Amino acid sequence: MKKIAIKGTGSCVPERVIPNSYFEKIIDTSDEWITTRTGIKERRIVEKGQALSDLAAPASETALKAAGIFPEELDLIVIGTSTADMLSPSAGCIIQHRLGAKNAVAFDINAACPGFIYGLAVAQKFMQDGSYSKALVVGGEIVSNRLDYKDRSTCILFGDGAGAVVLGHSNGKDDGEILATDIQSDGDLWQLIHVPAGGSRRPPSQEVLQEGLHYLKMQGNDVFKHAVRTLVSSAHKIMSSQGITSGEIDWFIPHQANIRIMEVVAERLEFPSEKVIMTVHKYGNTSAASIPVALDEGVRSGQIRKGDLVLVNSFGAGLTWGAALFRY
Ligand code: ACO
Repeated sequence: MKKIAIKGTGSCVPERVIPNSYFEKIIDTSDEWITTRTGIKERRIVEKGQALSDLAAPASETALKAAGIFPEELDLIVIGTSTADMLSPSAGCIIQHRLGAKNAVAFDINAACPGFIYGLAVAQKFMQDGSYSKALVVGGEIVSNRLDYKDRSTCILFGDGAGAVVLGHSNGKDDGEILATDIQSDGDLWQLIHVPAGGSRRPPSQEVLQEGLHYLKMQGNDVFKHAVRTLVSSAHKIMSSQGITSGEIDWFIPHQANIRIMEVVAERLEFPSEKVIMTVHKYGNTSAASIPVALDEGVRSGQIRKGDLVLVNSFGAGLTWGAALFRY
């Protein structure tokens, strides 16, 4: 089987910054509550009319440039998102069009927050037998227009963003390598995080809008417990599959959902805080963008260097969860 490596990273977040103080004016909350309960100080939100591809295309272009690969060389595009520009066609096809990646097959994976890790796992499998050689994997989300700005338990948590990686075949250690990916789902828990309407069961209607059924609903407390459980178990599973302990890993990038979840998980996995990459304070939970944006920032800041061993993991609506271990 061929080895696969990350050849370049990129990310893009909206320019508009929404600080916690904004929410103090519209709902019963405080900067103090949001900061202590979530670690979030501000988030980035798109302007009206902006869509996923407005962030995903620039993030992809940056990743392609970093990899030294032209769009026409891509043969695979996988987009992890649940908020494509429109219900149909896929975000993959829109992004293929915007990049001019004429020779790629393009599609989406709807796996909420771990969408990027799902994308990485799928692209890896497609590439391992040599059928595909150059892939673009994107995690991106415009969560802001799925939020009910009267629901204080959800609207303070999320932000918009997109991150991308370009994958290519690898010669092994010095060239980087995805060592393992693991993705999992438990559909029995679908009700914990869901958007009730807008799909085929409850298509858009006056009633849907009036009842706010197009907004994200979440049982935050239960999600918190499952998040800790799945993030710890996915990390253990992938480390033991490679016979590696956390002491040998250079960087840990957990899903950037809530600093309390990240701290508990890092502690249980025995990662000191210096090894954990954090962006949640400035971007909030950007769902599928969370991991690739943090990865790109880690690379561009010079924290993650060529040859470093990196563990990423995530969880989200579905429930879905997953992890990936790679040498950058
Ligand atoms: N400001 C002030 N008070 C608030 C706010 C707010 N923004 N939100 C909730 N509260 C109140 C509640 O009403 C409750 O009040 P009560 O005690 O009078 O009933 C109190 O604060 C405590 O509420 P909890 O829900 O118990 O607060 P908790 O500490 O659990 O924090 C939070 C809530 C931040 C949502 C947390 O549960 C969490 O982060 N859960 C995980 C969510 C997550 O990570 N989702 C990711 C997946 S999303 C996806 O896949 C798209």
